[in-house]
Amino acid sequence: MERISISLPEKLLREFDRVLREKGYVSRSEGIRDAIRSYIIEHSHISNLPAEIAGTVSVIYDHEKSELLEKLTHTQHEFSEIIQSTLHLHLDRRNCMEVIVVRGSGSRVREFVDRVKTIKGVKFAKLTTSVPEVLS
Ligand code: NI
Repeated sequence: MERISISLPEKLLREFDRVLREKGYVSRSEGIRDAIRSYIIEHSHISNLPAEIAGTVSVIYDHEKSELLEKLTHTQHEFSEIIQSTLHLHLDRRNCMEVIVVRGSGSRVREFVDRVKTIKGVKFAKLTTSVPEVLS
């Protein structure tokens, strides 16, 4: 085992601890190990997307973060060939949710999700794909 030390916002850690309690974890380290495993599995899922996919990308962000809106809009324009539609919800004073419907090349969709995730102020970005394997 290796030991690491990480910095987290207090609120995020409180929420994480709450989830761990609900799931019945007794050790925070065990919860973190499982969370890291899920993250890796999710990544390998997204890095093995089929050639053509359709799905939605849900994004939650703080719209008051400077330059976030320009970056997000710029990125969506750059990937306009895969973006079919966008739905915007104003969640509360600061947070917005955008549901972006995508369709097209799996690798382009993956690239798009990775780009959106790295925009500062984006708190959450998740791709849900429909299952074209089942349709064909
Ligand atoms: Ni909004």
